[in-house]
Amino acid sequence: MIKLRIKAGDGKKTALAAVAVFHFEDADQPGAMSVRLDGETGGMLNRLHQLNDFTGRLNETALLYPAADRDIKRIIVVGLGKKEKFDRDKLRGAAAKVAQTAREHKLRELVLALEAGYLDMDWADAAAAAAEGAVLGLYRFREYKTRNEDNGPDVETLTILLPERRHLKAVRKAVLGTEKICRGVYQARNLVSMPSNELTPSRLGDEALKLAKSRRGIEAKVIGSREMRRLGMNALLGVARGSREEPKFIILEYRGAAVSMRPLVLVGKAITFDSGGISLKPAEKMDEMKTDMAGGAAVLAAIGAAADLELPLNLVGLIPATENLPGGRAYKPGDILRTMSGQTVEVLNTDAEGRLILADALHYAQRYQPAAILDIATLTGACVVALGEQVAGMVGTDPEVKEIIRKAAEQTGELVWELPLWENYQEMIKSDIADIKNSAGRFGGAITAAAFLSRFTGSVPWVHLDIAGPAWLTKDRPYQPKGATGIGVRLFIQFFMNWLEAH
Ligand code: BES
Ligand code: MN
Ligand code: ZN
Repeated sequence: MIKLRIKAGDGKKTALAAVAVFHFEDADQPGAMSVRLDGETGGMLNRLHQLNDFTGRLNETALLYPAADRDIKRIIVVGLGKKEKFDRDKLRGAAAKVAQTAREHKLRELVLALEAGYLDMDWADAAAAAAEGAVLGLYRFREYKTRNEDNGPDVETLTILLPERRHLKAVRKAVLGTEKICRGVYQARNLVSMPSNELTPSRLGDEALKLAKSRRGIEAKVIGSREMRRLGMNALLGVARGSREEPKFIILEYRGAAVSMRPLVLVGKAITFDSGGISLKPAEKMDEMKTDMAGGAAVLAAIGAAADLELPLNLVGLIPATENLPGGRAYKPGDILRTMSGQTVEVLNTDAEGRLILADALHYAQRYQPAAILDIATLTGACVVALGEQVAGMVGTDPEVKEIIRKAAEQTGELVWELPLWENYQEMIKSDIADIKNSAGRFGGAITAAAFLSRFTGSVPWVHLDIAGPAWLTKDRPYQPKGATGIGVRLFIQFFMNWLEAH
């Protein structure tokens, strides 16, 4: 990950490979940093605008080369679009664009000249958003590229340059926090990017143990199939039957507050590969089903980041992990599974496996007497149909928790939209022969899946996030290169912070 530095001053008297400044499309005045750079480079920025070569459209860039005798070797100008449409997320994207431009030019270091007043933002917020965008925009997954030319040089340091020392302390603190959160996002993206032959349930369990070992305040436990049988986790075991890989039930506990404080329990779906099982998926895009553990990855990474941030709360992460494969011992359509809660489930479709493994995890969560349960899962294609690829679906029983999530979503740019959970949906999942069935057909599929989950949450405030769309992108977005997004990590951390503020 790129190193982040914060400095105050004019950046003079040091040789600077590249300095980046922002510019609004409709600004009548350039920012103070632009004016300063303009002065130092003999009016280059002014010329750029006079010639109309740059209008400031969102993420438009221009690269300028000051005369050889100047300290600054390059200036990167980036557009922020129209001022009235500007927000934190646009700043993240613009900062990512700056960082990517620097990488394209094989630059090792980059200075970002920041002016919060010009952006109408708090200094700490602006610096954090810019740093976050740059770091996340530079992510790439090169683990399996062995040729050097595919691994070209990377930007090594990003220095955020503030005009005065006054805000240095607050900005340092904010950016340090951002760095920890981004580390979590990188970890989640790496786990999701890993192929399923490497990231097996056992390997995911090892990652959890490693996380606990390397951090204060976290304990991890990985339960295998024998103990699962003892606990009665027959839904999880049922899904795992078709696979030669042993299923794992991963438990992470973070203690950041007094024991008396009820924990928040996070539950993350981790199907390390979802073939659909006997109800086999079509071959096209089946490779993408290695990402069906993105919920589990988000939980693991968010707990790591929360510990790094030393957040004063108690957290539990529960990650049911298995493959979903067909085979001679696989569970079949028509089978009935007795879940850990005692409720029976008729399996109508073995591809609706996520809700089964979550059922046992949600029931297990009750033993912590949680203040709230949040689950996150790449649960339904129906959610992608309803909301599109970029938005997570939210269903839940607790207005307060939902409101805190909504706020966190707005702050982080990880978009969330609520779907209803009315009584009629509960009717739709009733089975003729067992208590409930695991598939209610295509209509309202995201909601009937959530209705299924709600049967296992007891009376604990609960919110479910369906990330089937936003977990994986097939096209680049401003600060999310295509592939794994690490969605959920930033959302959870922001949720924790908002939760702490409210309690
Ligand atoms: N993992 C899939 C959902 C999914 C689809 C995630 C596309 C990411 C992208 C889930 O296990 C699944 O297969 N759901 C079925 C449920 C149906 C059989 C009731 C679906 O959405 O088709
Ligand atoms: Mn499935
Ligand atoms: Zn699945």
